[in-house]
Amino acid sequence: MLKNFWYAIEFSSAVTRQPKRLTVLGQELVIYRDTKGQPVVMSDLCIHRGGALSDGELEGDCIRCPYHGWKFEPGGACVEIPANPPDRAIPLKARVDAYPAEERYGYIWAFLGDLPAAERPSIPELPFFDDPSLRLLEGEFKWNAHYARVLENGIDFAHAPWVHGSSFGNREEPEVEDYEVHFINELSASATVTLKPPPAKGLWSFLYKKDRPAVVTTNTWWMPNVSLLEVRLPMGNMRLYNAHVPVDDYTTISKWIQLRDFFTGGWADRDARRRVLKIFLQDQPTVEAQRPELLPYDLAAELHIKSDAIQVAYRKTRNKYLDMGYGIDMHRIESEYSRHQATVIPSPARRENPELANAWVMREAPVIGQPIPEGHKLRRAGDPKKTELRQAEKD
Ligand code: FES
Ligand SMILES: [Fe+2]
Repeated sequence: MLKNFWYAIEFSSAVTRQPKRLTVLGQELVIYRDTKGQPVVMSDLCIHRGGALSDGELEGDCIRCPYHGWKFEPGGACVEIPANPPDRAIPLKARVDAYPAEERYGYIWAFLGDLPAAERPSIPELPFFDDPSLRLLEGEFKWNAHYARVLENGIDFAHAPWVHGSSFGNREEPEVEDYEVHFINELSASATVTLKPPPAKGLWSFLYKKDRPAVVTTNTWWMPNVSLLEVRLPMGNMRLYNAHVPVDDYTTISKWIQLRDFFTGGWADRDARRRVLKIFLQDQPTVEAQRPELLPYDLAAELHIKSDAIQVAYRKTRNKYLDMGYGIDMHRIESEYSRHQATVIPSPARRENPELANAWVMREAPVIGQPIPEGHKLRRAGDPKKTELRQAEKD
C-alpha cells in the first residue's frame, strides 16, 4: 500500500451531500460534497473519542461528529466544541487530517499523503474521456485479493487462453508475440499485442459467421492502481478502465468505466455489463487463490518470462516508490498497533504548516523500513514488562 499518490476512490456519481464512509489503504475516510459541489475527503476518525464523522451531519461545508457534536471544516480544523462555553478557545490539536480532492474522468480522486503540492505526482492523464460520442458504462467488482495482484491480472496478456478460454481467450493460439513496453512517463507504461480470439458467441456472433479476425489489444497501467484494457474489435473499440481501489491488504474494489464507440445505444449496456462481469468472475478464483497474497517485493520471488514484461515494469516502478519510503507498513499496523492504536495517513497540512508540527493527535501510519519513534511503542495493560514492574514495586 503506497501513500503519496492520487487515488481514484469513488465514482463522482456516488458522492453527494450525504457523508459516506470509504475504507482505502486500510484507513477510514469520510467523503462528501461541500455547498459548491466540491468533493471533501477527510480522515473519518474524530480526534475526541474516535467517533466516525461519516455518521454525522453536514452543516454548510462542515461536518459535525455524531458523538459530541464537534464541528470540522473541510480543511480538517475543528470550529466548534459544543460542550465548551463559546468564548473558550478551541485547542490547536482539535483537527483531523484532510486530503486534497479533485473530480476527474467520472471519479473523485484523493491525494493520500503529505507531499507538498509541488512534489506530488499528478493525477494520471487518462485518454478517451474527452470524446462525448463514446458510450460510458460504470460498475464495480469486489475481490478478496490485494490490489496489486488484481491490477497485474488486468494487464496480463498470457492468461487469456487459460482463464478466459470460454469467452475471448483461445487455447489453440496461446502464444504471446514478443512486444515492447512503452513508458508513457515514469508513472505509466503500456504494451500492445495481437491476440487470436475463438469464434464469437451471443450478440456478436451475427457479425462473424465463422472465424473472428485477430484482435489488437493494449494494456496500460498508471501508478499505483489504474489499468486500461483496449480492445480493437472489427466493429469498434472497447476501452475498460479500472481503478483498483485498495480497501486493505486483502480486499480490492475495482471501479470500472467502459468506453465504447460501437453499439452506443443504451440497448447494448446490459450485454456489455454482462460481458465485463463475466470476465471478472472468470478471473476471481484464480486471483484470490494466488500466494503469497501480497505482490512480492523481491523480483526473484516469482519466475518471469518475456510475455510478463508489462507486469515486471509495474513491479519495478512500484518497488522504486517502496524504496522511497512510500510503503505503509500494514504488517506493523496489524501486529503492533492492531486495535489498540489508531493511525492515519499524514495529510499535507502536517508538513505545510510548521506551527502545526505538534498539533496532531492521531499518529502517522508507519512506513516500511522506518523505525517506530520512541514513545510510539505501545504500552498495554497486561504487558508482561509492566506486570513485572508492578510486581517489583509491590515487593
Ligand atoms: S467523538 Fe467526535 S465529538 Fe466526541
Ligand atoms: Fe483476466
